[in-house]
Amino acid sequence: MSYDIYKSGMPEFSIAFSGNKSDRKLTHQELVRAIRFMIAAEYEAIQLYEQLAESTDNTLAQKVLIEISHEEKEHAGEFQRLLRELAPGDESFYKEGMEETEEKIEKMKPKVIPSKPAKASAKTPGKPKTKPQKK
Ligand SMILES: [Fe+2]
Repeated sequence: MSYDIYKSGMPEFSIAFSGNKSDRKLTHQELVRAIRFMIAAEYEAIQLYEQLAESTDNTLAQKVLIEISHEEKEHAGEFQRLLRELAPGDESFYKEGMEETEEKIEKMKPKVIPSKPAKASAKTPGKPKTKPQKK
């Protein structure tokens, strides 16, 4: 049975040749799709590590899992930057999505009503209009 990771999307660990390189090079579009998949895998790993850390009282395991989850976030960032380079046409979609969320954030912010400027108090010392007379 031949195995093609790019058809199934997931390696099968029971197959010795699973995960070996493909017998041909990827096209640019296949590479872009693979990187998108890797980004999803990084986020999946972050979720698993944080979930496991929150599910145990073992402080050593918690520490290791949280540190690794931070590394996965760095990996996600590396892949995102790579994807930006490989698929610059996607940027306009990300920008559009970010702007849509930005508008929602702005609408949810509490409205700040500008306060009236404070009137000068009678107690507030002001500059005398006339010079005090000398005696
Ligand atoms: Fe990673």
